[in-house]
Amino acid sequence: MSNISFDLITIFPDYFAPLKLSLIGKAEENGLIDIRIHDLREQAHGVHKSVDDTPYGGGAGMVMSPEPWGKAIDQVLAGSAAAIHDLIILTPAGEKLTQKLAEELSHSEHLIFACGRYEGIDFRVTEYYQTLPNVRVRELSIGDYVLGGGEVATLVTMEAIIRLIPGVLGNPESLTEESHSLPDDVVEYPNFTKPATWRGLEVPEVLLSGNHALIKAWRADQAAQRTAKLGRLTRE
Ligand code: ADE
Repeated sequence: MSNISFDLITIFPDYFAPLKLSLIGKAEENGLIDIRIHDLREQAHGVHKSVDDTPYGGGAGMVMSPEPWGKAIDQVLAGSAAAIHDLIILTPAGEKLTQKLAEELSHSEHLIFACGRYEGIDFRVTEYYQTLPNVRVRELSIGDYVLGGGEVATLVTMEAIIRLIPGVLGNPESLTEESHSLPDDVVEYPNFTKPATWRGLEVPEVLLSGNHALIKAWRADQAAQRTAKLGRLTRE
């Protein structure tokens, strides 16, 4: 079974307390993944342990300095035996996280998440690590909105990746029919469980029929309708 290592670099290590819970906490307990959290401030100099500065060229806000980031990432790279490292830099200006990308990253050996704050990290950090042959750098966004920093985006991205790692989900079949895993980015059909009547609302009769072919056709139709409502294309 795979064992993927995650190194998270942040100025707010406490943001990552939820990683001890639920699916991800279990995956770590079971030795399927291993997560290390690093405080960027430990790499900062001066009495104020400053990690940011004003932007060259002017403008509002502060930019994270390359020096502490370089030191923190170098230290993480030196502490890993992986042949290839995926360095994920969270930024609203990055490539969008998709199910396909999460699937791709779930095959990685070593993922490093760089959680920027303020106006982001000095771009030379991206440029420098792109020059290293054993590092794949990705600037990643979780959506078209601006968060206070990359920590929450890291939690989202990690959860999307980790549930795809073999052995993490009790029932891996639940992965095959879910939204965004289907052809053409179709979303999933609606689901129902007991009781059959709730607040006067009935479960669709076809689901109680026991007729698997009919149920399959109904679900495909519902999925197509939901997908169309979202404005996506579906297969003919
Ligand atoms: N940092 C701030 N906003 C972000 C976003 N939408 N995705 C990833 N990182 C971010």
